[in-house]
Amino acid sequence: MTEGREQFSSRLGFILAATGSAVGIGNLVGFPVAATKGGGGAFLLLYAMFVVFICIPVMMAELSLGRRTQKDPIGAYLKEAGAGSPWRIAGLLSVITPFMIAVFYMVITVWIFGYFIEIVSGNLDTLAKPETFNVFINSNKVFVYLVIVAVFLNVILLSGVKNGIERAAKIMMPALFLLLLGLVIFVLTLDNAILGLRYYLIPDFSKVDAVVVNSALSQAFFSLSLGMGILITYGSYVDRGESLAANAKLVAMADSAVAFFAGLMILPAIFALNPKANTEDLTDSSVGMMFSYLPKIFMALESSVGYVGASVVAAIFFLLVFFAAITSLVSITEVPTSSFIDTLGLSRKKALIWLVSVMGLLTVACIVSFGMVDGLTAFVEYGNMKKSFFDVVVDIFYDTILPLNGLLICLFARYRWKNSLDDELGRGDNGYEGSFTKRYVDISLATLIPIILLLVFINTVAQKYFAFTIIG
Ligand code: PHE
Repeated sequence: MTEGREQFSSRLGFILAATGSAVGIGNLVGFPVAATKGGGGAFLLLYAMFVVFICIPVMMAELSLGRRTQKDPIGAYLKEAGAGSPWRIAGLLSVITPFMIAVFYMVITVWIFGYFIEIVSGNLDTLAKPETFNVFINSNKVFVYLVIVAVFLNVILLSGVKNGIERAAKIMMPALFLLLLGLVIFVLTLDNAILGLRYYLIPDFSKVDAVVVNSALSQAFFSLSLGMGILITYGSYVDRGESLAANAKLVAMADSAVAFFAGLMILPAIFALNPKANTEDLTDSSVGMMFSYLPKIFMALESSVGYVGASVVAAIFFLLVFFAAITSLVSITEVPTSSFIDTLGLSRKKALIWLVSVMGLLTVACIVSFGMVDGLTAFVEYGNMKKSFFDVVVDIFYDTILPLNGLLICLFARYRWKNSLDDELGRGDNGYEGSFTKRYVDISLATLIPIILLLVFINTVAQKYFAFTIIG
């Protein structure tokens, strides 16, 4: 064990930091829309099954690898698989992936922060106009917001695991829960709120097809921050006396609860203001929902609570999403940071200076790929579609490599590293050996999970790059 590796100060510290990572834009915006379009309660049921049978075992495998090796993902695979082993590639992918996902997640976080500032400056009416989003993302203001968010992020990361990551989560996560609860209560008191609840909760199994099943799985997988090396890294900061199985279950529950509550906020709000809303009208993308659809909804509140009231509700919403996004961003940037520290032997400060420079450049390349720079806006063409630089980053790393990383960790943990996995999961958890959890983790990691993740990976590659549809 590396001498003096920082640790979370307590179990609660880890739970909040990991939940901070898991709760993101996906929970607050992506989940409610996917659930409504995917048959309401039927989607919720599917989602819960995927969390229990697929995500929790993968979480446990990632956490175990990190805690056992006390290393970042590159070091972890290297230490356990040996220097010449091809598994090193899995380690490398577990660091490059979060690095690139951090780039595009940063762009969206910057927009969220920008919208928050615009709203508190009294500009909700402008944001509610359909053309505003496009003008906003191509304005120079975005660079100012980028600098502010980057400074904020780096101040947290520079302060280290306990004083930075854990402290930020301890402040922002309870604030996020309270803001969310407040908004849910407010929205549920609006007229017609019940119509939204009906769409969200009543199961409609006729809507469940292969596409919906796939979207429930991706949603659950991404929401729990799997395949990004995050839980390997955070696992390396967890005390040996804690039960990883119990921690994983708690984080999964907290993350799912936030996603569920987000639905109780968004759908009633939509139906309260437009009782004739149809789920077909809902936009498919989180970005469209957050930056075009919801500002209109908030603006429509003016008739009941006045302009200032509507702006307060909108500001609370964007602050909430900003907290969720920044804690996710912290976790994902910590992965390459810890790799630079462990693998290259850099100090935290030097590691962050390197990261800020390289990630900053790539982030700017993404920001200008929405129209400011032609060569990056129409960057390449594949699968019969023109793609911007931003699209390429999302397609390759978020959509394609994530499930591959999940597949690799579970094959590694189950077939190459089984004894260590069992031993690590048994630490701090006397009842693990012989438990029901152990049996289902064994079986899922060995069969169900690799098969499903392989299918998802093949389907994505066929669809994205060859315009060939297997599912959907
Ligand atoms: N769990 C996040 C979400 O739902 C996904 C994510 C995690 C993205 C960490 C980036 C970093 O939005």
